[in-house]
Amino acid sequence: MRIVLLGAPGSGKGTQAQRLMSDYGIPQISTGDLLRQAVAEGSDLGMRAKRFMDKGELVADEVVIGMIRERIARPDAEPGFIFDGFPRTLVQAEALDELLQELDKPLQLAVLMDLDSSILLKRLSGRRTCRNCDKVANVHHPAFDATEHCPETGAAHDYFQRSDDNEDTIAKRLDIYAAQTEPLVACYRGQGKLVSVDAQGSIEEVYDRLVSALETLEREGVGDAVQVEVEEPDKA
Ligand code: AP5
Repeated sequence: MRIVLLGAPGSGKGTQAQRLMSDYGIPQISTGDLLRQAVAEGSDLGMRAKRFMDKGELVADEVVIGMIRERIARPDAEPGFIFDGFPRTLVQAEALDELLQELDKPLQLAVLMDLDSSILLKRLSGRRTCRNCDKVANVHHPAFDATEHCPETGAAHDYFQRSDDNEDTIAKRLDIYAAQTEPLVACYRGQGKLVSVDAQGSIEEVYDRLVSALETLEREGVGDAVQVEVEEPDKA
């Protein structure tokens, strides 16, 4: 399975990609995670990228495309992949098409995680990540438990807030999404590869809708006839 998860910051791409990865046995390739890893390692690339990430701006296309080229060549990506947060510009989408064409592994589906901006803000401001096991949680979730034990340390999770999850940077990221990434929706719709999934509701509800969309892909294959709308707007 070769898919892209498209959607605004906070729409749940990373959360759902993690579940798909474990159920489908293919890697989640998140450019955000790859860049944060480079920042944590203190590499030149990481230090240059951090300046853009802290402002909520996009890192240069050529940097991100180079990272993807390397990542996709690893053996675990042989059976397929879930792109999370990539591509994010038309230039990146074209580069991805070319790269996958070279590999004779065309993209099968672009899934748009569709969510209202008022919910995005709440999800992003409440997000916390454990420093030790990378668990992503949300303080606004009724099941959030700050005393839960981390499987890595046996002590309570050491949660931190991402430096770009503050009000000003979130606003900038949403503006950039609208200007530079949203055009990809029309692009993938034009290629007959777009599925829109309602990203409201619980993580489980959204996951079930995603899986229905992917089952359609398995039944109907690449390209035409995958423009299904998998939405249940009544679920809050
Ligand atoms: P990146 O890390 O990709 O951030 P993003 O796209 O802004 O997306 P997020 O990770 O913020 O949101 P998400 O949709 O994954 O939501 P999540 O599942 O965590 O990029 C960061 C930066 O890196 C960019 O600004 C840019 O600078 C750079 N960058 C990255 N890729 C790039 C590229 N291709 N080109 C150029 N620059 C690039 O969920 C959010 C929260 O909501 C969590 O707390 C979660 O627990 C909760 N949640 C999720 N689903 C639900 C649900 N159904 N109900 C309740 N809570 C939920």
